[in-house]
Amino acid sequence: MRIPLNDAANRLNAGGVVAVPTETVYGLAASLEHPEAIAKIFSTKGRPSDNPLIIHLSSAEAIKSYAISIPEKLVELAERFWPGPLTLVLSIKPDSIPSAVRAGLPTAAFRVPKHHQTRELLRKTGPLVMPSANLSGRPSATKAQHVESDFGADFPVLDGGECAEGVESTILIYREGKWEIIRLGAIPAEAFESVLGYIPVESVSKGAKPVCPGQMYRHYSPKCALHLVRSVPVEYEGVIVGFEDRVYPHQAKIFSLGLSTDPYQVAHRLYDVLRSLDIEGVTEAYVDVYVPNEGLWNTILERLKKSACK
Ligand code: TXA
Ligand code: MG
Repeated sequence: MRIPLNDAANRLNAGGVVAVPTETVYGLAASLEHPEAIAKIFSTKGRPSDNPLIIHLSSAEAIKSYAISIPEKLVELAERFWPGPLTLVLSIKPDSIPSAVRAGLPTAAFRVPKHHQTRELLRKTGPLVMPSANLSGRPSATKAQHVESDFGADFPVLDGGECAEGVESTILIYREGKWEIIRLGAIPAEAFESVLGYIPVESVSKGAKPVCPGQMYRHYSPKCALHLVRSVPVEYEGVIVGFEDRVYPHQAKIFSLGLSTDPYQVAHRLYDVLRSLDIEGVTEAYVDVYVPNEGLWNTILERLKKSACK
């Protein structure tokens, strides 16, 4: 059910849960002030309680009231990438964020989103927690219809059109004097070099505890079984998720991710294509992953690898 922005703000301020567009993917929003709404997010998504939520803020200023300290380059990262698809995990002052939001961790994840409707909403509601608005384990939602298909036609959605980026925010954490990536995302690792002076590496978990709890779980998966391949056998007659500027066996049915030269277009379409496989009843598909290991392609490859896991 599509609802206007004022209605979305009223529902959130009254302790409701509403799906909200962002520039990355749709989020399932609840006010940071409403514990019962936060609990509802976990039950609606079927999300394990040990997987913490991102807190969305209207401005970087608000960080000061939560963070225990401001790590080096945080100000520069915020100036360069906020508002936008960057999430920062910071050590927080005790009791400044409810434990359920951060799954009991001494840290919390923060992001200042860019989508104009999200920003207007945040000004009316204050901080919102938002996981991606999809059933846990399924591809994220990049259109209002995707949210309705997961949560039902009556679920309240603020329709902000198609999400521009199409993949989730990049998550950074500051550990032992350096920023590290704990989730690849819409901002490629290489883009941080101009601010940090180095390309942040992907964080390696130390001991049994994962650095990013959400990365343990099955993710982004359609029901359709996906086989990632760097070339497709010439005799193949099934479904291929591939690129419109490539030649595939003529008997195959192609689901196009766009041009193999344009990772931004591919990221934008990715979850819609994965979802359309299920809508069309496709049970098995080859995915062409003959793409460079660089920039946004690394995020796309990571999402595809996770979506192919059963
Ligand atoms: O683009 C996005 O980030 C979207 C939009 C809606 O903002 N949100 C999103 O939320 O992707 P979600 O819940 O699907 O993914 C958040 C990830 C999870 O993997 C979670 O484990 C991790 O962030 N996370 C949250 N708080 C954390 C913390 N304190 N330490 C480590 N990882 C954390
Ligand atoms: Mg998610």
